[in-house]
Amino acid sequence: MEIQSVGIIGAGQMGNGIAHVMALAGYDVMLNDISQDALDAAVARIEKNLGRQVGGGKISADDATAAIGRIQTVLDLPRLGSCDLVIEAATENETIKNKIFETLLPHLGPETILTSNTSSISITRLASRTDRPEKFMGFHFMNPVPVMQLVELIRGIATDEPTYKACKEVVRRLNKTAASAEDFPAFIVNRILMPMINEAVYTLYEGVGNVQSIDQSMKLGANHPMGPLELADFIGLDTCLAIMNVLHDGLADTKYRPCPLLTKYVEAGWLGRKSQRGFYDYRGETPVPTR
Ligand code: CAA
Repeated sequence: MEIQSVGIIGAGQMGNGIAHVMALAGYDVMLNDISQDALDAAVARIEKNLGRQVGGGKISADDATAAIGRIQTVLDLPRLGSCDLVIEAATENETIKNKIFETLLPHLGPETILTSNTSSISITRLASRTDRPEKFMGFHFMNPVPVMQLVELIRGIATDEPTYKACKEVVRRLNKTAASAEDFPAFIVNRILMPMINEAVYTLYEGVGNVQSIDQSMKLGANHPMGPLELADFIGLDTCLAIMNVLHDGLADTKYRPCPLLTKYVEAGWLGRKSQRGFYDYRGETPVPTR
C-alpha cells in the first residue's frame, strides 16, 4: 500500500517535527491537537525551522513554501480517519494514548496504518486495545526530528509484513534511516540512552561532579554533541523519568531505578527547556546550571 496522506496527533515538540519532515517529503499532512493555540504555535515553529534549513542551503525557499502548503491543522480528531497513515505523538501517557485511539478508531479506513511515536510503551499492549493490531506499529523519531537521521521501527507481536514494509518505505522517502527494534521496554535508543542520563543524574546526586563538569566531561571526553544533563533538559525530565519507570517496571531490575534527584526535579515542575528550568535555568540570556 502506498502512503500519500499522514495524520499526526499532537503538535508538540515531536509532532511538529514529524509534520515538518513529512510535508517536506511531499506527504499531505493533517496535524491535530486539542487547542488552536497549540496548532498555531506548531506551524510557527515549523516555519522557523524550515527557515533555518533554507538559511543553511539545505532546501530551497520554494520547497519550504510547498511544505507549509501541505500541512492542514485540524482540531477534530476523527477527520484524521481519512489518512493512509496515522502517527500518534501525544504525551507519553498510556491512558491518554488509549483514549485517543478509542476516539479515532471508528473513523479509520480499513487499510489505515496506525502507529505511535511512543519512546518506551509496549507496542503490543497499545495495539491490543485497537481493532487492528496487525496494522499497528511503533514509529519512533528522535529529537530534533528535522536533524536526526534515525527512525526506530518497532513491530508488535501481531504487526504484519505489509505494514512494516509500508512504514519502512516512508522512512526511506524521508531520507532517514530505519532501525528495526524488538518490542521490549524502551526499544534500542532509550534502553541505552536513558540509563546513561540517569547515571549522570546519580553522578550529580552523589556529588561526584556538578552540572557543568558532568556535561563538559561527556562532551569533551566522549565527543557527545550535548552533555547528558543538557540533553535531559532538551528531551524533558518528565519524559526521562517516565522512560526510566517503564524500564524499571518492565524489566524488574534495580539497575534501572530512577535517581531520586530526577524525581525531585520533576516534582518541582523543573522539566527542562520546556518549563525554562531543569538542570539549567533558561530564563536569562545564557543557561545557568542549577547545581
Ligand atoms: N529544525 C531544523 N534544523 C535544525 C533544528 C530544527 N529543529 N535544530 C537544529 N537545526 C539545524 C541548525 O539549523 C544547524 O544547521 P546548519 O548545520 O545548516 O547550520 C544544525 O541543525 C546544527 O544546529 P546548531 O548549530 O543550532 O546546534 P548544534 O550544532 O549544537 O546542534 C543538535 C544541535 C543537532 C541538537 C546537537 O546538539 C545534537 O545532535 N544533540 C543531541 C541530540 C540527541 O541526542 N537527540 C536524541 C534525543 S533522544 C530522543 O529523541 C529519543 C527519545 O525518545 C527521548
